[in-house]
Amino acid sequence: MTNNPLRQLLREHLAWWGLRHFTSDREYFLWQRQQLSVEELNQLNIHVERKRTGDSVDERAFYDLAAHPRIFPILYSQRYEYYEAIGLQAMAHLGKVQDILDFGCGLGILTTLYALRFPDANVVGLDRSAASIAIAQQKAKDLGLRNLRFICLDLQTESLSGSFDLVLTTHALLQAEHDPGIPSESWRTFDRGHDQTQQMVFEQRTGLARRLDHLCQVLRPYGRMIVCEKTRQLARRVPFQRALAGRGLQLVQPADLIHYRSIEDMVDDGPFYVLNNGTQSTVAWDELPELDDGTLFNLNAMLANSIDSNAPLYENHGPSAQVAWEELSERTVTQELTREELDGRQVHVELGIVDETHYLYCANTFDQRQLVMMEEARGTLLEAYYQEIIRGLT
Ligand SMILES: C[S@@+](CC[C@H](N)C(=O)[O-])C[C@H]1O[C@@H](n2cnc3c(N)ncnc32)[C@H](O)[C@@H]1O
Repeated sequence: MTNNPLRQLLREHLAWWGLRHFTSDREYFLWQRQQLSVEELNQLNIHVERKRTGDSVDERAFYDLAAHPRIFPILYSQRYEYYEAIGLQAMAHLGKVQDILDFGCGLGILTTLYALRFPDANVVGLDRSAASIAIAQQKAKDLGLRNLRFICLDLQTESLSGSFDLVLTTHALLQAEHDPGIPSESWRTFDRGHDQTQQMVFEQRTGLARRLDHLCQVLRPYGRMIVCEKTRQLARRVPFQRALAGRGLQLVQPADLIHYRSIEDMVDDGPFYVLNNGTQSTVAWDELPELDDGTLFNLNAMLANSIDSNAPLYENHGPSAQVAWEELSERTVTQELTREELDGRQVHVELGIVDETHYLYCANTFDQRQLVMMEEARGTLLEAYYQEIIRGLT
């Protein structure tokens, strides 16, 4: 039970769809094996693998299979907390809206919730998976929803008619999950520069350009768009945000970072954007990496506090390692290498000494940073680590 009535409504809705909330992998997979045959599980795994290639035929085949009534409650129970997190965030922005489009609605698990919660709004769910839309239509009928209809259409290749004052899209706009995005200008910076060709290539190879253009065509002037995609890495976040801004969409409020569990795994999702089509905004787009301030750096304090232990004196594997490395102004570099990898990323590896302390620094143009510092006696360990990294480069 929860004392938040909206969360309670959401949980009852997910239960109605047959979804269950698990917090233990062991219990979930036991249930999965009880519910699905070995053949069904094999088919599912094959389709998951094919979907990873990013091919639209394979992707559609996956969602068609996933919509099977025996499969979807089990598969989508893994996303239980995702539905909770996104559903609650989205519902906070749907009041007083007349025409809502949910692009990439899948089975309509959240779309039916929005239509139930806002009976005065006209809701349209759109998806290219015919099997998903068939389930969505049946479920809307079972719920007696008269303010909801579904359209089966591929927005990559076809445009949509009509107009909406709110367009929602969660996990459907930037499906190319393995696309690394756009690298920074050099390993020294997180800045992406402003190369229009690079931006255009990103939008086209991920299919974002077409989908977004088609959605913007049906979004009314001053209408709102709610967007949540897997774009937490800066290299994806920056071009994604620039694609939104480039079409006149502006932030209504700072984007929210979304966290939830997929059974036992913590997922960092989003950001969750609330956008306006045309109104001037004072909220700026954030193009900085997420900094972890738990690793604030003070070299003198670190050396004073160092005690005999097997742990490095300092270790930072986040973007703030760059700030710490920049503070090593008196450093002597003993070995360094900067090169371009086969996939185009630039990598810098550096070994050096500062105040009799040895350090190893690695940085690349996909925002990875690493700084490890050890006392003099363990300098050879760092050197071995340096050589290992160099050997691992392509
Ligand atoms: C990960 S699911 C997300 C479903 C739902 N929005 C949610 O948050 O649970 C992505 C959905 O987007 C749909 N989709 C992807 N590209 C599409 C396109 N070009 N046109 C229509 N639907 C698309 C897929 O068929 C799939 O059902």
